[in-house]
Amino acid sequence: MIFAANFKTNHTRQSTQLYMKALNEKLGAKKPDDKVYIFPPSTALDTYEGEFTVGTQNAYPAHNGAYTGEIGLEQLDEFGIQTILIGHSERRELLEESQAKVADKFSFFKEQGFEIIYCIGEPLHIREQGFDSVLKYLLAQFEGIDVDYEKLIIAYEPIWAIGTGRSATVEEISTTHKALKKVINGKPLLYGGSAKPTNIQEITSIVGVDGVLVGSASLNADSFSKMILS
Ligand code: PGA
Repeated sequence: MIFAANFKTNHTRQSTQLYMKALNEKLGAKKPDDKVYIFPPSTALDTYEGEFTVGTQNAYPAHNGAYTGEIGLEQLDEFGIQTILIGHSERRELLEESQAKVADKFSFFKEQGFEIIYCIGEPLHIREQGFDSVLKYLLAQFEGIDVDYEKLIIAYEPIWAIGTGRSATVEEISTTHKALKKVINGKPLLYGGSAKPTNIQEITSIVGVDGVLVGSASLNADSFSKMILS
């Protein structure tokens, strides 16, 4: 299983250091095949020792240059970061990242050999239109994305389940993952959206779920380690 923690705009450099230490103390007990990723805010990127991979929540598709407020490859290289989250719904919605921009980012970081966790997900009004609409919406988020890229992991995150405390149902996750698996050529497929210690077992036992991308419940090292070790 894959367990990925997305801190979003939470934690400082100092609290991230404490978190990594606390988490790593627990990770000795994880199953050897399980993989753990942490995506701290950019200000907390660093080289950390531990049984996890540190990735960036975002970066600009350039080595360096005049991109005010962004970080590029040069800043990631400093800490040996080779993993990136692309296409998160918060970036698509709040920061108005278009599919074309997301696809540009994907191509650049693919070119650099990065491991990419690529996020897709539908809003509530699409879910309410029925499964055909959901699938159509999700498939459009693969436009310009090379699903054959070998270092690709996909994360399905229904927007209405993110940060709401209300995860998608087993049936919803199962049906959606089954359909997505047919188009992603065997790539690992994570579920994201209110995954937490109390529902992790249920979610990870669904056929077609290869792991979880966790926001809120990952912010506390105890809670996230509980999920990994459950
Ligand atoms: P959540 O966030 O676990 O707080 O719902 C998930 C995500 O946005 O990756």
